Amino acid sequence: VNGAAKAAATRDILEKMEATGKNCVVFYGSQTGTAEDYASRLAKEGAQRFGLKTMVADLEDYDYENLDRFPSDKVVFFVLATYGEGEPTDNAVEFYQFITGDDVAFESGEADRPLAALKYVTFGLGNNTYEHYNAMVRNVDAALTKMGATRVGDAGEGDDGAGTMEEDFLAWKEPMWAALADSLGLQEREAKYEPVFSVTEDEALTPADETVYLGEPTHAHLQGRPKGPYSAHNPFIAPIVESRELFTVKGRNCLHLEVSIAGSNLSYQTGDHIAVWPTNAGAEVDRFLQVFGLADKRDAVIRVKGLDVTAKVPIPTPTTYDAAARYYMEIAAPVSRQFVATLAAFAPDEATRAEMVRLGADKDYFHDKLSTHCYTIAQALQSLTPEPFTTVPFSLLIEGINKIQPRYYSISSSSLVQKDTISITAVVESLRLPGASHLVKGVTTNYLLALKQKQNGDPAPDPHGLTYALSGPRNRYDGIHLPVHVRHSNFKLPSDPSRPIIMVGPGTGVAPFRGFIQERAALAARGDKVGPTVLFFGCRNRTEDFVYQDEWKTYQEQLGDNLRIITAFSREGPSKVYVQHRLHEHASMVSDLLKQKAVFYVCGDAANMAREVNLVLGRILAEQRNLPADRGEELVKHMRSNGSYQEDVWS
Ligand code: 2AM
Repeated sequence: VNGAAKAAATRDILEKMEATGKNCVVFYGSQTGTAEDYASRLAKEGAQRFGLKTMVADLEDYDYENLDRFPSDKVVFFVLATYGEGEPTDNAVEFYQFITGDDVAFESGEADRPLAALKYVTFGLGNNTYEHYNAMVRNVDAALTKMGATRVGDAGEGDDGAGTMEEDFLAWKEPMWAALADSLGLQEREAKYEPVFSVTEDEALTPADETVYLGEPTHAHLQGRPKGPYSAHNPFIAPIVESRELFTVKGRNCLHLEVSIAGSNLSYQTGDHIAVWPTNAGAEVDRFLQVFGLADKRDAVIRVKGLDVTAKVPIPTPTTYDAAARYYMEIAAPVSRQFVATLAAFAPDEATRAEMVRLGADKDYFHDKLSTHCYTIAQALQSLTPEPFTTVPFSLLIEGINKIQPRYYSISSSSLVQKDTISITAVVESLRLPGASHLVKGVTTNYLLALKQKQNGDPAPDPHGLTYALSGPRNRYDGIHLPVHVRHSNFKLPSDPSRPIIMVGPGTGVAPFRGFIQERAALAARGDKVGPTVLFFGCRNRTEDFVYQDEWKTYQEQLGDNLRIITAFSREGPSKVYVQHRLHEHASMVSDLLKQKAVFYVCGDAANMAREVNLVLGRILAEQRNLPADRGEELVKHMRSNGSYQEDVWS
C-alpha cells in the first residue's frame, strides 16, 4: 500500500492530517447535505483567506479516541445539524455517543481534562420550531468544554425555522475567523481563488462513451447493473406504476404517485419517508449553461479530480457540463450572498463587478435585489447583466453550488396493505413571492408532475415549459422511473391497534394519515380490534382540495363509527376555520380519548400549524381537567417525551 492510499483509508484523523499536511479539519454531521455544504465553505474560506491547510471530513469516517493528542497548533471544526427530535444526524450517531457518553475514554487515559490541548470551532444547524433547537451542537459543545477543550469564537447557531440560516452563518463566521486568526497567529491575506478540484475537458470522449456519466448516480448504475443495498448514496431507480391528480386548480395540482420498490430489497413501514431525487428543469439547465458561456460545449466531456487526497469529488466523473447541471448540481436553489461575492472577481465588466461586491457586502441590498425574487444563481447574474460570465472556472461552480439532494416525502400508504408499492402525495405549487418578478417553481414537485404527465400520456405535457429530460440517462428508464430510497422514521402507529389515535393533518399533512387509516381499515377487515381513529383534516373548501374524500368512505366500511373525519374548510365561510379550531370544538372528545391512551399525531407545516395545534392541545387539557394553563402545556410535553404526541412536520 503506498502512502497516499494508506492516508486515504485511515480512520485516524491525526494520521490523515499528518500525511496530507493539514492543520484544520472541518467535520460535518449532515442529514440532507446542508451541513456538509457549510463545512466545505468554511474549509475553502479558511484556506483562501488565512492560508489554513484545510480538509473536510464526514464524522462517520473517523474514530475519536485520540482527540486528546490533537495538537494545539491545529484546529477542529464541527458543523452539526440537529435532526428530528433533537437527534444527531445518521452520520454523527457514533461520534455523538462517544463524545457525550458517560465513559468517554481517550488514549492518554487522562480523566480530568483530557482535551486541554484541543481547539475547536462549532456551528449548528437547527430549526427553532422544534423543541430541541440545536441540541446536537449544544451538547457536543458542552461535552468538549467539560473535557477541557477550548472553543474558538462563539458557538454558532443557524435557524432554518426562521429562514435565517444563511445570514446566521454569515454573521457568526466573521468574528469566529478573527478569533481563530488570533488564537493560531494567522495573517489574513488577499483572498484568491484556489481550486480544490481540477476540471479538464477530455476530447477523446463523447457522451456516447459508456464510461461517461449522464445522470447515473453510481458506477453500478453506469454499467447498467445497479445493485443494493439502496441508500442515500445509492438510490433505487423505481418505476412509477400509477399516477393521478387528486385535484387541479389554477396554479396548484395535487399529485398521487405509486412507486414500485418490488425486487429492490427496500422495505418501509407505515409512517416512514421516501427520498426522491429530482432532475433539474431543462429551462434552468439551459439558462445556467448560457450564463456561464457553456451552452455551445454542453456535451463536452469533463473530468473532475480532487487536487489532494482529502478532496472528495462531489459529482460522478467523467461527465458532461450538461449532465452535471441537469442531474448533479443544485442549480435551482436560491443564490447565496457569499457566492455572489465570490463570483464578483469574474464579472464581465467593471460595473457589474462593483455591483456584485456591493451585493456581497450589503445584506439588505442583497435581500431587496436578489433574495426577494428567490433567484437562482443564473437568474441572479442574468438580472445584473446580459453578458455571460465566461471566465468562471467550472471547479468554482462545483465547489460553490451544492450537489443535488434528495427530497423527503411522508409516505401516504400502509406497508401492511401495499408492501411493495409506496404512495406519494405532493402538491405542485408555483409561488408568487411578494415583490417577486416571476413565479417560483418547486424543482421536485414539477419534475413529479412531468413524470405523471408522461406516465399518463397526457395530451399537453409540460404546461410550464420546463422541458425535463424525462427518459433518464441513455433513455434507460423510459421516463417513468424515479430515483428513491426509504428513510425510517419514528412516526409510528401504536403496536396495539385497539389504542385510539387522533391525527391532525391539514393539506398534504394528511399524507401519512392516509397510510395510517388504510392500515387500521385492513386490520379491522381481518378481524383485529381497532380503536377510535379520528382525523382532523383542513383544506380550502370541499369542492376544491378535499383530497382522498372518496377513499374515506371506503375505509368507513371497515372501520364503521370508529373512523371519524373532522374537516376544517378555511375558505368557505366569512372567517378562517382551521384544524386547531375544530380540535377545540371537540375538546371533550379529545380529552376523553387521551384518557383512553390515545396517541396524538400532527403532520404538516411546522412554523404555524403544528405550533398552534400544540398550544390548543395544552389549552384543551387544562380546560377539560380544570388545571392551570401551564399544567396543560406540561402535559403535552410529557406526551411528547413518552411518544404519545408525535410530529412529522416541515418548514
Ligand atoms: P388557508 O390557506 O385558507 O389559510 C391546507 O393548506 C389548509 O391549512 C388550508 O385550508 C390552509 O388555510 C390551512 N392553514 C393555513 N395556515 C394554517 C395554520 N396556521 N393553522 C392551521 N391551518 C392552516
